Amino acid sequence: MIKLLIFGPTGSMGRLITELALKDNEIQIVAVCDINNVGTTLQSLIAVEDKNKLIIEDVNNLQQIIEKTKPEVAVDFTIAKATEKNCMICVENGVRCIIGTTALTDEFLKKFSDLVKKNNAPAVISPNMATGVNLIFKVAGILAQYLSDWDIEIIEAHHKRKLDSPSGTALKIGKIIAESLGKSLETVAKFGRNKGLNKREVGAKNEIGFHAIRGGDIVGDHTILYAGPGERIELKHQAHSRMCFAEGAIKAIKFIVNAKENKIYNTNEILGL
Ligand SMILES: NC(=O)c1ccc[n+]([C@@H]2O[C@H](COP(=O)([O-])OP(=O)(O)OC[C@H]3O[C@@H](n4cnc5c(N)ncnc54)[C@H](O)[C@@H]3O)[C@@H](O)[C@H]2O)c1
Repeated sequence: MIKLLIFGPTGSMGRLITELALKDNEIQIVAVCDINNVGTTLQSLIAVEDKNKLIIEDVNNLQQIIEKTKPEVAVDFTIAKATEKNCMICVENGVRCIIGTTALTDEFLKKFSDLVKKNNAPAVISPNMATGVNLIFKVAGILAQYLSDWDIEIIEAHHKRKLDSPSGTALKIGKIIAESLGKSLETVAKFGRNKGLNKREVGAKNEIGFHAIRGGDIVGDHTILYAGPGERIELKHQAHSRMCFAEGAIKAIKFIVNAKENKIYNTNEILGL
C-alpha cells in the first residue's frame, strides 16, 4: 500500500483525489492536512467511506505529522504560497511530491529541484494532469513548426474562483510553442490586447497572444488558434469535470512511488507520451 498524505482535502481537487484514493486498494491515506476544517472528521466532508476515521490535521504541524504517519507520497492541489512551503518540508523528509498547484515561482522551482536531487525524493509537477491536455502539450509545438508564419493565440476559460491568469496550462502550451519555434516565451508572450476604454491597441504579430476568460463554474477550456491567410486551425481541449485531473493525480502517485531518477517528472512521462 502506498502511504499518502493529502494537502487541501476540502478543496475542489483535494476532495476528488481523496475520494479516489479512499476507493483505491493500492493506496492508504495516512494524513490529510489543511488550514480549513482542522479537527473535523474527513468523513463529514466526503461522499466515500473513510474506514480509518481520519481527522483533518493542522498543516502548521506538518513536520510532526510526517514523523508520526511516515507518508511515502504527498499530493498537493492548494495555493502556490502553501505548496512552496509544505512541499519543501516534504522533500526535506524524503517524501515524494505530486504537485498540481499552479502559479509556482521560478525561484521555488529552482530550490525545489535542487532539494529533490539532494534528498533522493523524485517529484511530479504538472499544471494539468488530464490525458487530453498532455496530448495537446505533445502536438501544439509540432503543429507550430509547420505553421511558423501563421499567427498563434491561446485562449483559456475557467471558473470565477480561479486565482491565477493566464492559467498554468496556457503558459505551458505557450512555452512549448515558443521553444518549438526557437524562441523564448518571455520574448513573444503578449497578455491581452487592450489597454482599456478609448485606448485600443493594435494587434501586433510575431507574438503569442494569451487571453483569459473567468466566469461561472467553467472547469477549464484551452484553445490554441493557428490563423493563416484564408484559413485557421483550432486545437481545443475542454474538461467536462475535474475527474480527468484527479485520475491523472492518482496515476502520478502510483508512478512516483517506483520512480528511479532523482528529478522532477512531468505528466507526459507518466502517460508514456
Ligand atoms: N494540475 C492540474 O491538473 C490541476 C487541475 C485543477 C486545478 N489545479 C490547480 O490546483 C490548485 C487548487 O485548485 P482548486 O480548484 O482545488 O482550489 P480550491 O480553492 O477549491 O482548494 C484549495 C484547497 O487548498 C487549501 N489550502 C489553502 N491553504 C492551504 C495550506 N496552507 N495548507 C494546506 N491546504 C491549504 C484550502 O483550504 C482548500 O481546501 C490551483 O492552483 C489550480 O490551478 C491543477
